[in-house]
Amino acid sequence: MSRPFRTAAVIGAGTIGLSWTALFAAHGMTVRVSDPRPDLAEAVADALEQFAPHLTAQGLDVSGLAAHVHIAADVTEAVRDADIVQENGPENVEFKKDLFATLVREAPKHALLLSSSSAIPTTTFTKEIQDADRILIGHPFNPPHQIPLVEVVPGERTSKDAVQKAVDFYTFLDRTPVVLHKEIPGFVGNRLQHAISREATYLVQQGVVSPQDIDKVLTNSLGIRWATVGLFLGQHLGGGPGGYRHIVTHIGKSMSKSITLGEPSQDPELEETAIKAVEKAYGTSPSTELSELRDRKQLAVLSALQQASKTGKEST
Ligand SMILES: NC(=O)c1ccc[n+]([C@@H]2O[C@H](COP(=O)([O-])OP(=O)(O)OC[C@H]3O[C@@H](n4cnc5c(N)ncnc54)[C@H](O)[C@@H]3O)[C@@H](O)[C@H]2O)c1
Repeated sequence: MSRPFRTAAVIGAGTIGLSWTALFAAHGMTVRVSDPRPDLAEAVADALEQFAPHLTAQGLDVSGLAAHVHIAADVTEAVRDADIVQENGPENVEFKKDLFATLVREAPKHALLLSSSSAIPTTTFTKEIQDADRILIGHPFNPPHQIPLVEVVPGERTSKDAVQKAVDFYTFLDRTPVVLHKEIPGFVGNRLQHAISREATYLVQQGVVSPQDIDKVLTNSLGIRWATVGLFLGQHLGGGPGGYRHIVTHIGKSMSKSITLGEPSQDPELEETAIKAVEKAYGTSPSTELSELRDRKQLAVLSALQQASKTGKEST
């Protein structure tokens, strides 16, 4: 049986593009990478080496990983025989407008054209493109070769077929696609992150708590709960026999009365307070040790969750 997703073009090989490259290759795809950066070949080789243990930890075979990846001379060469194009260039509307006009022209007609954009909805950069039915957002969380979520966000003219194909593609990559029903800047994950981040910055600026203690609060409570059951199920389970209804009508009401959320100040001095506090806690430039520790912990959580879900299924 032939596989539907054989060849991928990765356009833009920075933080996100390099991570997608490794994930695509580890799933046996041929990957053609295009980026004007002068150190492209070296950056790709380094990334494949660095990410190989993360992929192995997910049960993927990384032998011969590099043989799947080819450096393309330009975008046209990269997309020539692509089934999938994943764009990861600068977060800039004009760039995406120009690039997607080229992709529609140069990629095979069956190719799905995906953008990793963190906040720019498809419709914003496809207004002048005629053949926009196969263009949509596939927004990952960094790094996509580790974090499972991909937000699939169709534009006004994206076809249902393209949405389904995007869901099939990310499922084939063992990611967890979530389809949004409406376009909204920032999509869902980043809007939620922004909301929490705003309150956390406010609390630090007000001198209520240090950045390290905010991180302790999250990693020792909400982070664990959210990683296992999410927000709504967490509240439903936490509301006793009355479930979510009880939370909303009782605790929720009283919380709304007593808590007024803060707005972090844009005053440069106060902004500097929060920046200095983070740098004091974790260093001015984050160390390799810290990012390696994060990677190990993230992979351990993912593996433990997978195991716990399997055990639950086995016992039901
Ligand atoms: N970094 C994140 O946490 C994150 C998470 C999810 C999504 N995204 C999105 O992914 C995209 C890429 O973000 P990033 O963090 O990897 O940025 P980055 O700056 O690390 O990489 C962008 C790359 O695009 C390349 N580029 C510039 N012009 C190009 C061209 N004409 N053709 C091909 N490549 C070109 C640059 O050389 C650079 O290597 C953005 O749209 C961003 O919003 C980023």
